[in-house]
Amino acid sequence: MTAPLIFLGIESSCDDTAAAVLRHVPGQAPEILSSVVEGQTALHAAFGGVVPEIAARAHAERLDHCVERALADAGLDLAALDGIAVTAGPGLIGGVLSGVMLAKGLATATGLPLVGVNHLAGHALTPRLTDGLAFPYLMLLVSGGHCQFLIAKGPESFTRLGGTIDDAPGEAFDKTAKLLGLAQPGGPAVEAEAALGDARRFAFPRPLLDRPGCDLSFSGLKTALLRARDALVAEKGGLTVQDRRDLCAGFQAAVADVLAEKTRRALQMYHDLAPSHPALAVAGGVAANKALRARLETISAEAGVQFLAPPLRLCTDNAAMIAWAGIERFRLGLHDGMDLSARPRWPLDQTAPALIGSGKKGAKA
Ligand code: KG4
Ligand code: ZN
Repeated sequence: MTAPLIFLGIESSCDDTAAAVLRHVPGQAPEILSSVVEGQTALHAAFGGVVPEIAARAHAERLDHCVERALADAGLDLAALDGIAVTAGPGLIGGVLSGVMLAKGLATATGLPLVGVNHLAGHALTPRLTDGLAFPYLMLLVSGGHCQFLIAKGPESFTRLGGTIDDAPGEAFDKTAKLLGLAQPGGPAVEAEAALGDARRFAFPRPLLDRPGCDLSFSGLKTALLRARDALVAEKGGLTVQDRRDLCAGFQAAVADVLAEKTRRALQMYHDLAPSHPALAVAGGVAANKALRARLETISAEAGVQFLAPPLRLCTDNAAMIAWAGIERFRLGLHDGMDLSARPRWPLDQTAPALIGSGKKGAKA
């Protein structure tokens, strides 16, 4: 289908309520006409993680408002739209349901096509929204709730090469910050401390590097950090500023080493497809980490592969990526009916075996 399309996107799978309007004229770059994201960090701050019931209620209260704002920012009303795309999973079921119910209501009232989108496809297709990247490309999704290597072959076709068997890297950064008394979200705080520390002082493990393949593990690293912290506290009665910096530097170096080596392996597997324009793209909040980015850039350059990191506001949860993934599906002739269901679990690669420990409650995708 080659008609120009304007889609509304709706996202409510974790703790960001979001709506966006996107216009795509084939042959031209897609245009984000508006993108509204209302985060819920303050609502969950006292609980040390996302509380599903609080998230669901906040989505239900804010979704209408977000959609109204997105339409107003775009200077359009519902009549100008060609379709409605909504995250139908994976995620916290109460939030996903709120979005799907709203989208169904809007589609029924307007007669517009309804397109259910996999949230992970939203992340994975973002380099096509931002840079028009051609398939097949390698995607590293590194967020607070997910870590996986995917080969994106088409809007509906993904092959998972590997992923975390326990924690996601963002979750490990957040737990590290918590153990060291730093602010949440932990990633930026740990990165800032690490920049002033000595990464060689603590010999943290590089989990799963001795095993073939691209699977990753981060929970052992967190335990090693806890032990090192406790040993320092037992020895000196507390942590000095330098101890904290060195712990952060050691932790970050271990995460970067593991991700770098596994990315090298994923690139080798991807090369077997003989892509004509090989590219590695990243998405997710952890992609903001400068040390990690630098490593991935170097590995990509060594492998002769283009490296692409979309702007952070499109790497983290947003509804523009959902509108885009909806347009991509719709152009394949796909859309959904009123039987569209909200799915708490929905792996992108349905043929890959389930990863142990993935898809935890309260974890972002
Ligand atoms: O993609 P995102 O906003 O939310 C989802 O998980 O979907 O990612 C949030 C995660 C948090 O765990 C946060 O600590 C981490 O990304 N993060 C970072 C950095 N900035 C955010 N991790 C490492 N270094 C950073 N600079
Ligand atoms: Zn996400």
